Amino acid sequence: MTAPVLMETALHESERAGLTLLRLHMVEEESHVDDLWDLLSVAERDRARRFARRDDAARYIVGHARLRQWLGRRLRIAPRALRFTQNAYGKPMLDGLPSPPHFNLSHSGDWVLLAIDEHGPIGVDVETIRPNMSQIDDFRSVLAPEEQHWLDRLPPGPRAQAFARTWVRKEAYIKAIGEGMSRDLKSIAIVDGADGHASLLYDENPAPAGCAWHLADVKIDAAHTACLASRGDV
Ligand SMILES: CC(C)(COP(=O)(O)OP(=O)(O)OC[C@H]1O[C@@H](n2cnc3c(N)ncnc32)[C@H](O)[C@@H]1OP(=O)(O)O)[C@@H](O)C(=O)NCCC(=O)NCCS
Repeated sequence: MTAPVLMETALHESERAGLTLLRLHMVEEESHVDDLWDLLSVAERDRARRFARRDDAARYIVGHARLRQWLGRRLRIAPRALRFTQNAYGKPMLDGLPSPPHFNLSHSGDWVLLAIDEHGPIGVDVETIRPNMSQIDDFRSVLAPEEQHWLDRLPPGPRAQAFARTWVRKEAYIKAIGEGMSRDLKSIAIVDGADGHASLLYDENPAPAGCAWHLADVKIDAAHTACLASRGDV
């Protein structure tokens, strides 16, 4: 089988100061899934086979194979030769390289997002916006008081959007710091700042303490919302 070629035209890439975000649309990626399979490790193939739903498996294959292609191209290493390890909370990272780039991935609905940062830890999250997100009561356990007050004042439509935006901001942040769902999300507050951009109001247990984080809302489409969290001080 011929080696799959990274389809630049199928990728939406934005880049600034060592930070790159790829937004992969599954409708465009679907026809590449079989070829991308060849890039996965044995462990990744085993995991892909365990998904009950085909679309979950396809998103997984696309995310991990494109990540290998992308990192391989940056590092001039064959994609299949890349080795990964993970931190205590499951955050994947490159293994066996002196100063590897940081990366993170997220998949939901029609989208797979891949983020890479040469300079510091990074987190990305994409979610499908669901109308029931306007029922904030169901989600109070993940909201800090300041976030609840802000969302309670909104009517149902904008509230669902705002909740989804808050959720991806918090997930991108906990993925950037690498602690994942081990963190109590209520202890982290992220709100709209005066300029309308995401602003980390506080993290009661910041690790590493004193870091400045930059949270960027990412435009996807009407059904999805996303956020990219990166170090603002590197
Ligand atoms: C990371 C996490 C927040 C992802 O949430 P999600 O919205 O369901 O999924 P996303 O598609 O956005 O992200 C999943 C990707 O994040 C990455 N990831 C996993 N753990 C991570 C962590 N601790 N930090 C950052 N990224 C992580 C992986 O690449 C994963 O993709 P993969 O499973 O295909 O390898 C959540 O699954 C998590 O915290 N997992 C860690 C396990 C854990 O803590 N369990 C709870 C124990 S109390």
